[in-house]
Amino acid sequence: MVGILGGSGLYDIDGVQIIEEREVRTPYGEPSDRFVIADYKGKKAVFLPRHGKGHKFPPHLINYRANLWGFRKLGVKKILSVSAVGGINPLLRAGDFVIADQFIDFTKVRPVTFYEGAYTIVDEDDPNDDLVKEYLSNDRVVHIDVTEPFCPVMRDLLKKVLSETGERFHGKGTYAATEGPRLETSAEIQALSRLGADIVGMTLVPEIVLARELSMHFASLNVITNLAAGISGERLTSDEVIQMMKEKNNIIREIVLRFIEDLPEKFDCSCEDVLKGAAI
Ligand code: HPA
Repeated sequence: MVGILGGSGLYDIDGVQIIEEREVRTPYGEPSDRFVIADYKGKKAVFLPRHGKGHKFPPHLINYRANLWGFRKLGVKKILSVSAVGGINPLLRAGDFVIADQFIDFTKVRPVTFYEGAYTIVDEDDPNDDLVKEYLSNDRVVHIDVTEPFCPVMRDLLKKVLSETGERFHGKGTYAATEGPRLETSAEIQALSRLGADIVGMTLVPEIVLARELSMHFASLNVITNLAAGISGERLTSDEVIQMMKEKNNIIREIVLRFIEDLPEKFDCSCEDVLKGAAI
């Protein structure tokens, strides 16, 4: 089953048949909202707005571990994350889509792992029986490989779906994750640009890292809602972010639905092997 994490301005998905809404308990605390389990053309998907309905949680206070653990408890193994981002690379325009292929992490105060060694929190109700459970039950310290953090199969499918929409999109891009909730200074954006970042946002990390720690496949679809600080010379507002996400709502929905429909059952990639040999 695929999980969809919606970002700013994307709090639900129309066009699917809702089967049930589930509150999921986790030992990490409360997920951002109820999980909405839905059917689209015979395929099941689970939707969660990462900021909660009504945008209750700022990026640095989202309970990323609870969100990812909730997906795990519902049997989700693949996650499509949709986010609003600022554009840094001068080739990018507001309204473009970017499928991230790398990230650089500048976050500071977030729980970043499930594997905390002697301090590990174990879920006695974990329904799975896998390496995640084994490592957590034995208080192991785990260092996952993130050389290529995103699932190549999901990225290829996103490229195919996007090329069929006629929207302007970029098949790769480096996402700089900042701590927020403030936006960046223009000096910070210049520095991020020199470091090779194409886009900037506040939520991809630790979301991708935690998903990967659970051996999940993960893809990140980003909408450029604004040019990053200092690039256009204009002051930035949350209004323009939400306005752009509203404008793109229909097309995002179409992309997500086609993605759900076309997602293959079997994946030819190594995402599920990431825990092998990763524990000390
Ligand atoms: N910076 C950080 N996060 C963002 C931005 C931005 O310019 N736009 C949308 N999310």
